[in-house]
Amino acid sequence: MTFKLAVLPGDGVGPEVSRAAVRALDSVAGTLEIEYAEYIVGGAAIDAYGTPLRDEDLEACRAADAILLGAVGGPAWDDLPVENRPERALLRLRSELGLGINLRPVRWTPAGAERSPLKAEVAEGSDVAFVRELTGGVYFGKPSFRRATPAGREAVDTAHYTESQIVAVLDFAFSLARSRRGHVTSVDKANVINTSRLWREIATEYGKAHKDVTLEHALVDSFAMAVIQDPRHFDVVVTENLFGDILTDLASVIAGSLGVLPSASLRPDSGRRRFGLYEPIHGTAPTIAGQNIVNPVGAILSAALLLEWSLDRPDLAGTIRSAVESVMAAGVLTADLAAASDAAVTTDQFVDALIHTIENGGTCGRRAVRHHVA
Ligand code: IPM
Ligand code: MN
Repeated sequence: MTFKLAVLPGDGVGPEVSRAAVRALDSVAGTLEIEYAEYIVGGAAIDAYGTPLRDEDLEACRAADAILLGAVGGPAWDDLPVENRPERALLRLRSELGLGINLRPVRWTPAGAERSPLKAEVAEGSDVAFVRELTGGVYFGKPSFRRATPAGREAVDTAHYTESQIVAVLDFAFSLARSRRGHVTSVDKANVINTSRLWREIATEYGKAHKDVTLEHALVDSFAMAVIQDPRHFDVVVTENLFGDILTDLASVIAGSLGVLPSASLRPDSGRRRFGLYEPIHGTAPTIAGQNIVNPVGAILSAALLLEWSLDRPDLAGTIRSAVESVMAAGVLTADLAAASDAAVTTDQFVDALIHTIENGGTCGRRAVRHHVA
């Protein structure tokens, strides 16, 4: 059966990293039949069509088996009102396609450690899976507006959560923990806000009903400190939309660069071949766009997540992951991670080395490095 993949390159470095992800996917696809269809979204779609996401393109994404996205946004569209910004494309995809679960794995690697501000003795071996709720909270709550009043301007956002949104991410986090170290940390601000009080109440009930997994609660402010001070303590972290957005950028210092972090946005349904949207978490990085220097690892590892969650091919996901690790360990690093800028490889060189490694059984030897960097 042909697998239909919608590719949304987007803006900034998005086209470069999504091209890299497609190349990585192709290199392991073997007998898998993947049909690619590309759609213009984000700022590029505002320029081309006057809207960040056309209805027909949303429908094409709905009809696909999975979506691979680069990134959306950029300074050219910064002055647009919130409802017309490039980011709206992504938010609309998430909410209209029901992608309530956002998985963001953060792993320490020796290559990343060179550039991480954290001491190796603190971060070494860290492996934290963040599960961010993606369709609730202040991102989508109504009312949401701004207005002028006689006393000055004011703005309102609304945090809104339903029981079923919270249960859906807990379900996912707990079953993920069962395949890992069996430990879940639920992060909230239950000492102050209502949505978090509800969150903690439901998480506590859920934990009592599923005692095979250890559940702990943390307040978001103290968690922010703890995850940097002692990242190895954490296994699966589950949290609401805005906290998850902030905490995953923060936690990227464990991996050494935001450029290596992938994500999967999934529907709460189960099943071995889920519909999902896969994207690196780094955004459009406009200052380095179009220079062939962006780190493609976040996008490539997103393709690995796609193989795992939408194609039920954890074996092929593993092939990509170990090849990425091997290439990085051999010192093939883009500018964000290389020790010196003259030692950095380009985006294309990294992908060339990766594909060469995959085709040669998964180990990146020094000769291959020299060959591809020369
Ligand atoms: C992310 C991004 C998005 C978010 C933006 C681009 C809308 O920062 O995926 O983390 O805030 O969720
Ligand atoms: Mn973010």
